[in-house]
Amino acid sequence: MKKMMLAALLLAPVMVCAANAQAPSGDTPVAKDIMPKMPKPVAGFEWAYPMQPPDFKPLPPDSVHTAEGADPSMKLTMRQINDGFGPPDWFPKEHAPLPPIVAHGSKPHVIACILCHLPGGNGHPESASISGLTVDYIIKQMHAFRDGERQNIRSPAMIEMAHAISEKDLREAARYFAAIPRAKQQWMRVVETSRAPANHVGGGGARFFDKGAETVPVAPDMIYEVAESEQVELRNDHAGFVDYVPMGSLAKGRIVAMGNRGAMRTCASCHGADLRGRDDAPRLAGRGAYYLIRQLADMRAGYRKGAALGKMKDVVNKLSDADILNVAAYMASQKP
Ligand code: HEC
Ligand code: HEC
Repeated sequence: MKKMMLAALLLAPVMVCAANAQAPSGDTPVAKDIMPKMPKPVAGFEWAYPMQPPDFKPLPPDSVHTAEGADPSMKLTMRQINDGFGPPDWFPKEHAPLPPIVAHGSKPHVIACILCHLPGGNGHPESASISGLTVDYIIKQMHAFRDGERQNIRSPAMIEMAHAISEKDLREAARYFAAIPRAKQQWMRVVETSRAPANHVGGGGARFFDKGAETVPVAPDMIYEVAESEQVELRNDHAGFVDYVPMGSLAKGRIVAMGNRGAMRTCASCHGADLRGRDDAPRLAGRGAYYLIRQLADMRAGYRKGAALGKMKDVVNKLSDADILNVAAYMASQKP
């Protein structure tokens, strides 16, 4: 029951609210109680805060799977694949040893980081890429979740964990993700187009391709961030994502990044010449557009706040909705 509940926490945050029977330990707030207090997604960007549809039919918990490319002797049930305290590590030889907190979490409140961020640290559109961020930045963000400085409908699980994780575990996790090499950070493919393959929101709030050859228009105010394959449901960390971005958005995004026609500092002046992060400003290059859009929209709306954001405040106040979409598309298209 507990395992199923945890699986549901990632895959169906709304459903878990009703099903969560776990008693809170001490003062740690639990995701189901945090969720109703979160602000609604910033209007116009609802699609960048994806949620699994209520009528989603998951693969049966007892069905057995091997991720494509993994050792064929590794056969796991969906129940195991969705186990918050023992999610799969399909390619154990491809990364440094996982610290226990990263691989298994710490019961009852801290779920294994790799359930959502994957062993490669690049995550899914509803979570975040955390590979190659600095140790200090990762620790600071965990504290920001704890201290009410990051709020949106995607953050209740992080807020619960941030209250319960020990500083020692947090540092170990941060060291692991910070050390993921640049070559392993490539996760997004960006396609600038007027039409994308038809797709739908499925498990975990990720988008998947429809079967068949239909296409859908890519409007100037929408990005489709679609899983490269259904392997994403198995948490296969070889299966990345495609951002289908509107025609012209990359060139317009570059103008925003260059200082929005002189109206503000360039993004690179803080985030580094190659946008790979510098000092307290994190890497932006090659990260998923949905995550970047949520952050820029949340900062502008005041849902993401705190001392370090002082530096971003001037910038976000000068960004229109179109600027946010275009600059996120541009950042996603840059080599990490
Ligand atoms: C149940 C899923 C889940 C698990 C487990 C999880 N995270 Fe997250 N994490 C998220 C989501 C969702 C976000 C993005 C929230 C948002 O959009 O604002 C996030 C964001 C983050 C960020 C912010 C990234 C940035 O660029 O600012 C950090 C850092 C982070 N997680 C670290 C961790 C660590 C360390 C662990 C393990 C102790 C962990 N997470 C476990 C879902 C999860
Ligand atoms: C004056 C310095 C400065 C400038 C200019 C700047 N940033 Fe930032 N940015 C920061 C800092 C510092 C942070 C980290 C904030 C924190 O610690 O919460 C940040 C955070 C971010 C984040 C959140 C990333 C994450 O991992 O969650 C995004 C997205 C972002 N910036 C985008 C941009 C874009 C796009 C531009 C240009 C249009 C830009 N920034 C210009 C300093 C800057």
